[in-house]
Parts: sequence; structure tokens; C-alpha cells
Amino acid sequence: MKTEAIPVHSLPLTADQAESMLQRQIKKHHIAIILLHWFNAIVWFFELLTGLALIVSPLFRVAPQWYIAIVEGGFGTRANMLQFHVALGLAWIGVYLVYGTFGFRTYLSMEVLEKEIALDQDDWRWLVVRTQRILGLTKEALPPQGIYNAGQKLFALMVYAMVPLVMVTGIVMAFRLFDPQVVGWAVVLHFCAVSAVVCGLMVHVYMGAVFPEEKPAFFSMITGTVNELYAYSHHFKWWTAVKAEQREWDRRHDKEAVTPVDAGVPD
Ligand code: HEM
Repeated sequence: MKTEAIPVHSLPLTADQAESMLQRQIKKHHIAIILLHWFNAIVWFFELLTGLALIVSPLFRVAPQWYIAIVEGGFGTRANMLQFHVALGLAWIGVYLVYGTFGFRTYLSMEVLEKEIALDQDDWRWLVVRTQRILGLTKEALPPQGIYNAGQKLFALMVYAMVPLVMVTGIVMAFRLFDPQVVGWAVVLHFCAVSAVVCGLMVHVYMGAVFPEEKPAFFSMITGTVNELYAYSHHFKWWTAVKAEQREWDRRHDKEAVTPVDAGVPD
């Protein structure tokens, strides 16, 4: 079979091409990342649930009194609730230390981070066009995206910046490290960093769990794979990179490449 070129631009697909791409899956997430992501989501759920009920000062309280009473009641006493919040937070930090130590080269190397969350020119343009489209100012097509789109990259960058701050300030508060003034600042920073993540999470959870177009992305955080049609239409630059890698693998193994491109995706 003739090996055709991988397309440089995303072109309209015929119904047959779309159907056959829909049937093929490509790997997006490693099992370690899936487990870590859902562990992280569960931890954030319980930390937010208890964290909200821990702020009781009338000046800074964010949750209504009835909410605080219900959560506190669930733990029996306030002290138990605080103990749970701290213990879970420390376990979370422990898991990330193991992940950081053993997964450093695989998941956190500059090469991986650059490929996955650094913004390139297409990403900046994507942010402009996406905003204009939401405001109804343009119908321009979105620029091609890598494994994550620019919005996801911004969210990930913010999470990567805020999470260490949440961890360090949490430890300072839990163990009353340094003098009371430093602990006081840790409280403020902890609250601000968590609030920033919560703002991003509102969009993240909506896009991940509710937004119909992103359903394949949601299931990819369970199965680890997405169908090629979704990859082609939402993450075209990533799709071409995966195809190029497959091509290279086939070439090395001295096989004729049988890829979706061969199956008729136009070049
Ligand atoms: C119910 C809660 C959550 C849902 C439904 C959810 C959903 C998802 C999905 C579907 C993806 C994969 C996106 C893709 O492959 O295109 C993802 C990735 C990710 N999630 Fe979550 N997530 C949740 C909670 C969280 C929390 C609590 C955090 C961190 C505080 C988080 C941080 C991330 C990051 C950094 C990524 C990778 C990059 C990105 O998509 O922005 N997620 N999430």
C-alpha cells in the first residue's frame, strides 16, 4: 500500500474517513497519570469540603453557617475536622513527593513540559480567536492545537504554580513553623492559591465533565485513549506528531505503514 503524506493542515473529511477514524483509538494518558489525576481530584474535593468549613471568622467566612454546622457535625468535633484536613493534605504531599521523585524524568522533564504545557504562537492565537468566537465577533477557525489546547495549558500552568504554594503554606500552618506573623501570611497565601485553583476548576470541571464536545477527553481520563477523529479535529498538531511517530516506528520495523493517512485522510 502506498504511504501518503501526513496532511499539514486539517482538511474536511469524508463521512467514510470520519467513521473509520472514529473507530481507531490513540493513546493519550499513561495509567500513572490517570490514577494521579483522580486521586488528586478526590483529595481536592475533601480538602475543599473541610477547608471551607474551617474558615469561621465572620470577617473571612465564605461558607454559610448551616454548611459549617453540617460538615463539623459530620466529623463530630472541629478538632477532628482539622485533623482530617491536615492528615489528608500531608498524604497528598507524600504522594506527590513519590511522583516527583520517581516520575521526574518521565512526566516532569523540560522536554515533556515544553511539549505539553508551554504555549506557542498557535496557542496565543487560539486564545484570541476562542475569545472572539465566544463573543460572536468572528467565525474564524481555531488554530491547530497540541496534546492540550491553550486553555488547558493555562489551567495546568496555574495549577503547577499554585500547588507548591498550597503545600508549603499548608505545612507552615499545620506545624506552626516560624513566628505568628509568617503563619498569618501563610494563611492568606494558602487561601489565595486555593481560590485561584478553584476559579480555574470551575471551567476545567465543566469542560471535562459536562461540555458535550469534550466527552472523548473525559473518557480519556478513564481509558487512557481518544478516538482519532477527536484528536484530528481538536488536537491536530498532536495527531500529526502521533502519525509521524507511528510512521517512523513502521519504517524502523521495515513494514509498509498502514495508518489512517493511508486509509484515505487527504493530504
Ligand atoms: C471532578 C473533577 C475533575 C474532572 C471531571 C476533571 C477532568 C479532567 C479531564 C477530562 C482531563 C483530561 C483533558 C484532556 O485529556 O484533554 C483532565 C486533565 C487535567 N486535570 Fe482534571 N478534572 C477534575 C479535577 C481536577 C483537579 C482537582 C485538578 C487540579 C487541581 C485537575 C487538574 C488537571 C490537569 C492539570 C490536567 C491536565 C491538563 C489540562 O487538561 O488542563 N483536575 N481533567
